[in-house]
Amino acid sequence: MNIVLLGPPGAGKGTQAEPVSARLGLRKLATGDVLRTALRDGTEQGKRAKSFMERGDLVPDAVILGILKEAMAEPASAAGVVLDGAVRTVPQADGLAAVMAELGRRVDAVLMFDVPDEELVQRLSSRTVCDVCQTPYSGRAPGTPCDRKDGGKLVRRADDEPEAIRRRLHVYREQTAPVLDWYRKNGARVVAIDAVGPKEDITERVLRELAS
Ligand code: AP5
Repeated sequence: MNIVLLGPPGAGKGTQAEPVSARLGLRKLATGDVLRTALRDGTEQGKRAKSFMERGDLVPDAVILGILKEAMAEPASAAGVVLDGAVRTVPQADGLAAVMAELGRRVDAVLMFDVPDEELVQRLSSRTVCDVCQTPYSGRAPGTPCDRKDGGKLVRRADDEPEAIRRRLHVYREQTAPVLDWYRKNGARVVAIDAVGPKEDITERVLRELAS
C-alpha cells in the first residue's frame, strides 16, 4: 500500500506518519526530514535547499522528484510507503505517478489532514524537534533530551518563526491545495481526516479509513 499524507504545515503529518507506517508495516518517507538531514550534514543537496526551506518556500520539484525516484526504488520501499509531505505541487504528483508506474505501483490513498489555521499556528509556535531523529514535540523547551534516547536534543526549526509560518501557509494554499483536485481527477481515493483531538485518536481514525 502506498499512502500520501497531505495537509498544511502543523497538521500532524509527521506525528501520524510514524505510528501509521509502523502499524501497517510500511516505510515512512518524509521529504522534509530528508532535506533537513542533508542540510545538517552540509551536503550539496542540503546547501541548495537551505534558503528555500528557511523562507518557507518549496524546494524545486526536480530535487524532490530525485529524492522520490531514488527512495521508491530502494528495497525498504518494496512493501509500500507512507509519504509525509512528499507531494506538494501538481508536477510532483505527476512525476510521482510516473515513478510509481515504472515500478508497477500506484498511490492507493491520499489522506488530507484538516486543522483550522489558528490551531496550526499555535502548534508550530510551540513545536520543538529532535536534532537527530526529527520527532516533533509540543511545548518542550529547546535543549531537552529526546525521549528516544538517541543522543539528540530538542531544537526549534528555522521555519517555525512567525514570518516563515505565514509564508508556508500561503504556499500551501497556492501550490499544494490544487494537488487534491489532481488526485481526484486522476482517480485516487482522497479521504479527509479530522486531525483535531488526541494524537492516538487520530491514528485510529486514519487506520479505520484505510481499512474501510
Ligand atoms: P516539512 O518538514 O514537511 O514541513 P511541513 O509540511 O510544513 O509540515 P510540518 O512538519 O511543519 O508539520 P506536520 O504536518 O508534519 O506536523 P507535525 O506532526 O510536526 O517541510 C519543510 C520544508 O521542506 C518545506 O517548507 C519545504 O521547503 C521543504 N519541502 C519538504 N517537502 C517538500 C516537497 N515535497 N516539495 C517542496 N519542498 C519540500 O505537528 C506539528 C506540531 O503539532 C508538533 O509539535 C506536534 O507535536 C503537534 N501535534 C501533532 N498532532 C497534534 C494533535 N492532534 N493535537 C495537538 N498537537 C498536535
